[in-house]
Formats: sequence, structure tokens, C-alpha cells
Amino acid sequence: MPGGGRLSELVTRQSERVFFTWTAQKKAAPLEIIGGEGARFETADGAWWWDLGSTTWNANLGHGHPAMRAALTEAASRGLVAGPAAVFPDKARAGELLAEVSPPGLSKSFLCLSGAEANENAIKIARLVTGRSKVVSRTRSYHGATLAALSISGDPRREPFEPGYPGVVRMTDPYCYRCSFGLASDTCQRECAQDLERALLEAGPETVAAVIVEGVTGANGVFPAPPGYFTRLRELCDRYGVLLIADEVLSGFGRTGKWFAVDHEPVVPDLLTCAKGLTGGYAPGGAVVVHERIARHFDEEVLLCGLTAYAHPLTCTAIRAAIGTYRADNLIERAAQLGQWLGGRLASLLQRPCVGDVRGLGLLWAVELVRPGTREPLDATGVYNALKKRRVYTHRRDNMIYLAPPLVIGQEQLDEVVGLLEQALDEGTA
Ligand SMILES: Cc1ncc(COP(=O)(O)O)c(C=O)c1O
Repeated sequence: MPGGGRLSELVTRQSERVFFTWTAQKKAAPLEIIGGEGARFETADGAWWWDLGSTTWNANLGHGHPAMRAALTEAASRGLVAGPAAVFPDKARAGELLAEVSPPGLSKSFLCLSGAEANENAIKIARLVTGRSKVVSRTRSYHGATLAALSISGDPRREPFEPGYPGVVRMTDPYCYRCSFGLASDTCQRECAQDLERALLEAGPETVAAVIVEGVTGANGVFPAPPGYFTRLRELCDRYGVLLIADEVLSGFGRTGKWFAVDHEPVVPDLLTCAKGLTGGYAPGGAVVVHERIARHFDEEVLLCGLTAYAHPLTCTAIRAAIGTYRADNLIERAAQLGQWLGGRLASLLQRPCVGDVRGLGLLWAVELVRPGTREPLDATGVYNALKKRRVYTHRRDNMIYLAPPLVIGQEQLDEVVGLLEQALDEGTA
């Protein structure tokens, strides 16, 4: 999404030498952010934008948070050089805090730099522990841009890289608005969760190491799992000796009003991956938090995983400070409360003939556009451009507009942004 106005000399200079991601370079939309505060950021042309997408779904703590600035300034001034075997206080504390906020029994962390790396390592760990290699993932899902993570993803971005990781088996999605079983909520028996059993039996359960699912599907549509969904997955994983990996890269750290989206059910995954909100975007960071059983496995067995910048000092400080900030600012509870209010506010959009569905949890929502009077998708570009004109930065996919503001946003601010979305819907679907 461009910052608007003329391209600055800096944009021109940088574009010559550094790639933009996921785009033909001539079509890139540079964003020259020079600062920000809370739920808004400022671009070099002097415009202030509402960050309705939390930048890359990672700015859960908002922009310019004083506690993050102070912690990272202090850590950088120590000038510690990264080394995987290093021992230092923020590394120990990051591990302790992750164990405290994760579902019970998840006790030890592998610390890396991104969500893709977290998923790559979770799958390697699952393979080492089970001695099996296949992975079940959902038809609509995103697990990262590295080769294995992308081939496990159910995302159009995977296709140019086929064939990828061998032995990926797909199961269906909890996409209730377009239920693959044609069911309504009163007849649903969680067939989409039960579909895991079909996938396992087709693959041969004794060959499957893990099933990986997002806590709430993010970029591929925002599908909060219906109640009982994760419980069914857990039962099936236990029945067939398959490990359950919860990818909480996008849905973790308060995004859905709990520390992790799986916390909405009394379900404990075997491995939980996280990134994004883990450091709030203030430093690169990712983690695989594993169950005590898995941690113990590697007391004797070699953990064949690692990276040069493993548990980097700045990453560890950012994790320690971010978790401290979620707690100090009460952001998880706040996201739950604001989410309740936002759900009510957005429900009124359903009166519009171009809005087919509104769904979400906490501060993660999707508005799905349809041709009036039908369920046929209506491309969201018009609404997206109308939002951009109003200086609202957000994410979209096909016929969906997403809302994922920083958890620090205030209710009045959110009300103002939803007002701008209403204007954009008027203009962008006219
Ligand atoms: C659910 C999920 N998993 C993994 C990733 C990959 O994270 P990263 O871009 O930090 O590698 C993303 C990124 O958007 C994601 O949404």
C-alpha cells in the first residue's frame, strides 16, 4: 500500500538495490514509515495512517511503544554478539515467560527469527520424535515462505514451487460460511475436524508425523474454529500417535483475546509455533514451544536443529519486554473486551447486500464481500482502495477485507476506523 504522493528520493534509491517481497518490483507499493504512536503510523509525506493490519499482522503492541524502545535501546547498548550456546539473563527469562504464557505442559522453547523458521523447526522436531515424515495441513493455510513451510501451506503462493515437500496431505477448513459439507451451524458436527481422520487413513497414519493448523486461519480467510474443533483434532492425534502443531504465528499473543487461539478450548498442542506478536515487530523473533514430553526426548537424543542467530540477544530482550508489556498493559483482556464490542459493531455491516459474512475473534476479523443477492465473491479491490484513500492500512485477499488492529487501539479509535470502513464499503462497492 503506497504512502501516497510523489516517490521520495529515498524510495527511488532503495528500490534500485533492495527487493520488495511478493511483487513484481515495478508494481511494488513502498511505504516510507518514519514513526508512529499506538495504532497509527506516519509516512514521509506527512500522512498519518490507521494501522488496521498491525503492519504485517505483527504490531500487536502498536507503534513506538515506550517500554519496547527502552528495553531494546538498553540491550543494543550492551552490544552482545549472537552465539547459539550463549547464556545470558534475557534468554533464560524469555524461555521462562514463554512457558508461563503457553498452554499447560508446554515447557521449553527453540528460539529462532521468524514464523517460517519456527514451523520448519517444529516439523523437524516432529519428525525426529516420531520417526515419521508426512504432514497434514489445511486446504487454506499459510505457514511461511521457506520452501518446506510454503509447500505445507494451502495458499496460492505455493503453486510456482511445486513439487515441494513430499508427503503433504490436505484436510478441509472450518470455513463455515462456505462449509465444504454444505452444513449449517445447527447441523454441524465438526465434520471439518473429523476430516483429519479421513486424511490420516488415506495417508497411512503410521507415516504421519504431525498435523499443523493455524490457531485461527489468518491470511487465507480468518476462520475461527467452531467450539469443539480442537478437542476433536486432539482426540484424533492421540488415537493415531500424530503430533499436533498449533501455528500461532498470527493468532498468538492476544490477537484473538487469549494468549493463544487454542486457549479458547482446554486443548494442549504438542508443539506451538509463534512469531509476529512474540516481539511485536520490534525485533525479528520466532519460537517453537514444546511439550515437556518432547523436551525430555532431547535430553538424550540430539536436537538436529539450529541457526547462527539462535536466540539472538536482541530477540530475547524483545520477547522478554513484549510479554512484560502484554501483561503490564493488560492487552490480552483488552483485546477480548474490544473484540466483543467490535463483533457487535461489525454485525451491522451484514445489512448491506454486498457483505456476505463477517467473522472473527478478539481483534482478528474478516468482512467477506459478495455480489448483492448472491454468494458469488465480489473483488475487494474497490473497498481496499477506498480505505487507502482514507489512510487506513489493511490486508485483503480476493473478496475479503481484514481487520487486525494493534491491541493498544482504543474503542473510540476503533469506532472511527469502522466508520471509515463503512464509507469505503459505500464507495468501493458502488
Ligand atoms: C500463520 C502464519 N504462520 C507462519 C507465518 C510465517 O511467518 P514469517 O513471515 O515470520 O516467516 C505467517 C506469516 O504471515 C503466518 O501468518
